[in-house]
Amino acid sequence: MNSKAAILTVDQLSKSFGGVKAVNNLSFSVTQNNIHAIIGPNGAGKSTLFNLITGVISPDQGKIRLLNNDITSLRPDKIAQHGVSRTFQNIRLFPDMTVFETAFIGTYLFTGGKLLPAILRTKEFRKKERQAKERIEEILQFVGLWEMRNEYAAKLSYGNQRRVEIARALATNPSLLLLDEPTAGMNQKETKELMQLFTQVNKQGITILIIAHDMHLVNTLSDQITVINFGEKLVEGPPEVIHNHPAVMEAYMGRAEVNA
Ligand SMILES: Nc1ncnc2c1ncn2[C@@H]1O[C@H](COP(=O)(O)OP(=O)(O)OP(=O)(O)O)[C@@H](O)[C@H]1O
Ligand SMILES: [Mg+2]
Repeated sequence: MNSKAAILTVDQLSKSFGGVKAVNNLSFSVTQNNIHAIIGPNGAGKSTLFNLITGVISPDQGKIRLLNNDITSLRPDKIAQHGVSRTFQNIRLFPDMTVFETAFIGTYLFTGGKLLPAILRTKEFRKKERQAKERIEEILQFVGLWEMRNEYAAKLSYGNQRRVEIARALATNPSLLLLDEPTAGMNQKETKELMQLFTQVNKQGITILIIAHDMHLVNTLSDQITVINFGEKLVEGPPEVIHNHPAVMEAYMGRAEVNA
């Protein structure tokens, strides 16, 4: 396999909400096995881009391809089956589910999801269920939550809640993992530990597309950075090119003045 091939290609993508062009004629691609960062000021369209890629919303125009498959406007579960998984900007966990149960939701996609075999508890169903449970154990060990598997997910520390979300995302066996500001609100220790986790996830062959404001994180982890502003691509390149780029500085400072 050519390791330089694009896993995700976004082509002339646009999405408006009323008069707001949240994503505006945006094109970029993510190279397989890379950690690729999306940065840009508040309201630049970053989360909207993730919602478009994962099928939560449909674009007004443009195409999204995963390897050679057109995934534009497919249902979110279909896109997940193509190997795209995500975490959300605001952590989303059910209050009355344990860590194990929450991560187990992810495997549902691969246990078939048919009702009759589940009711009859067929041999085949039980085998898949056992395999799924083994896989969850592996994932929880990997993200460092196995010891906490029976605790309520929503009661854990913020950093561990994010790990639960990552475990749930990994349970779908993604080839592309989208992380929307995964370290926002974390303390330095939690941020550092999560950065190590992202590197380990990436080493397992999972491509990561990450939205972040923390420039230390972005510059340390990323192979490639796409900067967006007002839904459009401003500039793109490796950290050494983006670092101190005049257009990037202006976008952030310009918006900061607007917000002031
Ligand atoms: N569902 C929606 N309905 C209406 N407007 C929306 C919706 N989602 C996003 N927007 C608008 O689209 C623009 C882009 O929002 P988006 O959440 O994608 O920005 P962002 O880059 O993720 O910002 P932040 O860094 O604050 O998370 C904003 O002006 C926002 O108000
Ligand atoms: Mg956002």
